[in-house]
Amino acid sequence: MKIALAADHGGYQHKEFLKKYLMEKGYSVEDFGSYTEDAVDYPDVVYPCVKSVVNKENDCAILICGTGVGVSITANKVEGIRCALVSDLFTAKATREHNDTNALALGGRVISKEFMLEIVDLWLETPFSNEERHINRIHKITHIEKLELK
Ligand code: RB5
Repeated sequence: MKIALAADHGGYQHKEFLKKYLMEKGYSVEDFGSYTEDAVDYPDVVYPCVKSVVNKENDCAILICGTGVGVSITANKVEGIRCALVSDLFTAKATREHNDTNALALGGRVISKEFMLEIVDLWLETPFSNEERHINRIHKITHIEKLELK
């Protein structure tokens, strides 16, 4: 599995910690920055990161800012991205089973690095349920995207 990572200064330390962990677990990781703790505008790193998922260069994206809110709003502007902001284990699992999310947003100032790893592991390991009612709902999201792009 190929994972795209991006973070602003609010998520930089968490991203570095996560990158090392994922690489040690054998995942292929592409890091879209930020590469320092200097202030950076999260849309600048999130957009190329999630586009790599839409373009099938990566399988999913994990995005980290201070709260996770800015990166999740940005990611969900991109056609084909379904990004969930997660800070608990129930949501980490449910958002894969129900929403087939392909991007995970996390708050570096909200959750600890250790708890982040638990969330990420569960999110990565949980498959989409493929249940008809969830497929229908995702199709409706896609329909709204198409309407808004006209
Ligand atoms: C940066 O200070 C902070 O606003 C950002 O990391 C994020 O929390 C935005 O949603």
